Amino acid sequence: MSQKINKFINKKNKTKLVCLTAYSKNIAEEIDQFADLILVGDSLGSVLYNFTTTRKVTLNMMIEHAKSVRLGVSKSLLVVDMPYNTYRTKSEALKNCKKVMKETKCDAVKLEGGIKIKKIIETLTKNKIPVMGHLGLLPQSVRGKFKSKGKSDREIKQIMRDAKIIEKAGVFSIVLECVASDLSKKITKEAKIPTIGIGSSVHCDGQVLVTDDLIGLTNSKIKFVKKYVNTKSLIKKGVQKFKSEVLKKKYPTKKYSY
Ligand code: KIV
Repeated sequence: MSQKINKFINKKNKTKLVCLTAYSKNIAEEIDQFADLILVGDSLGSVLYNFTTTRKVTLNMMIEHAKSVRLGVSKSLLVVDMPYNTYRTKSEALKNCKKVMKETKCDAVKLEGGIKIKKIIETLTKNKIPVMGHLGLLPQSVRGKFKSKGKSDREIKQIMRDAKIIEKAGVFSIVLECVASDLSKKITKEAKIPTIGIGSSVHCDGQVLVTDDLIGLTNSKIKFVKKYVNTKSLIKKGVQKFKSEVLKKKYPTKKYSY
């Protein structure tokens, strides 16, 4: 495990971990100083491309966005989501994760799933590819409506078992998406690695949100999304002013001309 990843793990039980998504250099540069971990999430499919499912996101899309994000990240751990159908077998996962690590110079990859991908996680970690896990609501597997997880006895047992299995297989952290509060508390208490919640209560070791949601660039109505700033209105103000100055021939003045 790299020093950077050990530092991340060692923050468990000392301080909460701050994790954010980025899809481009400009956003990455602004959030790097505040984040412990920056994730190039395959949520970029819906946020930037209007896809109704993350299943349409390709490996090349992830690589190109991650290369841009890499330019803006100097201190945070950089993690890249492996998109749907890129880690179905051990050899496919190894080939694609090696490509992502090499081309994007990221620190780790993130894979969705529990027992089904145990062998894949083991293969990757044995080959020195750090893996972040993702349990609870798994966007790459959902067909139809997104629902919270971990309320029925069956789901509680399954997610608890998956958390133990992927920790043993070598993940350095687990994202818990839309997991019921009591269950995320229990997983967090029993795991030696940090849990990162998204809609999974304050009990997790850290939190992650899609940056575009929290800065108000999207119209997300998801329960766990809190809009901390209204970036849309700032953009509107700036662009309106530009338009008005262009129409009134106030821009460009001599200062802005050659
Ligand atoms: O794709 C993504 O952005 C994610 C996070 C929201 C956890 O997986």
